[in-house]
Order: sequence, then C-alpha cells, then structure tokens
Amino acid sequence: MITAQQMFENALRVRDRAYAPYSHFAVGAAVLSSGGNIYCGCNVENASYPCGTCAEAGAIAAMVAAGERQIEAVLVLADSPCILPCGNCLQKIAEFGSAETVIYSADLKQIVKTQKLGDILPQSFSAGDM
Ligand code: THU
Repeated sequence: MITAQQMFENALRVRDRAYAPYSHFAVGAAVLSSGGNIYCGCNVENASYPCGTCAEAGAIAAMVAAGERQIEAVLVLADSPCILPCGNCLQKIAEFGSAETVIYSADLKQIVKTQKLGDILPQSFSAGDM
C-alpha cells in the first residue's frame, strides 16, 4: 500500500534532478497509478522557454510509457508555501484522473494541502465534449 509519505519522498528525491537553469525553481512530482505504482518527474526547462516541461508532465509520461492510464493521486513539491499544478498540468491530470483524484501540495518538509481534482478544476474539456 503506497502512502502519501512515500509519494512525498519520491518527489523530493526527483526534484534534485530538475533542470531549471532559467527559473531556478525546481519542482518534483509523484503520480500514484491505479496499479499501485509511483511514477516521478521533474521540470525540464529549455532555452526556448515554451519548450520546457513541468514535473507533472514528466511523471504522467512515465506512467503512460509503463502501460498505465489511471491516476489515483498526484503530489507536486517545490520550495514554495503551497504549490499547485498549473492549468496545463491540471488538464493533463484530468485526462487520466477523475474528480476524485487526490492532489497533494508539498513544500520541502511536508505535505501542506490535500485537495481533489474536482475542487481545483470543477469543469474542463474532455473527450466527451467532441
Ligand atoms: N512548474 C512545474 O514543474 N509544475 C507546476 O505545477 C508549476 C510550474 C515548473 C515549470 C517551470 O520550469 C518552473 O516551474 C517555473 O514556472
């Protein structure tokens, strides 16, 4: 049984690998899949700024590459009072999650907030809208 603390430890570790020479804002993310696995990601910036990717995007890509497609929880971690996934990442999480998907915000010491995706992104575009 994966705990939020295990997600925190994984996100803290992968944050050390962030490539953030432009913003100097390192982010780590851990995704818990329905298969009970943790997938991690860090932000990877680029000299062409819009080409950079968020930590959550890396973690979600790792989950999909491993053959999983259902997100139970996401933990995003940075040296910030209460970081939340950006709008783009909320949409990415929604693709593989549900209103019940848990979103943990963490600083470098602990989880500081626990919310559900449905609270943060109550409405969004989805496959059903096409
Ligand atoms: N960033 C993330 O990795 N995740 C978020 O949810 C918010 C922002 C990154 C993108 C960029 O590399 C840096 O933080 C500053 O915006």
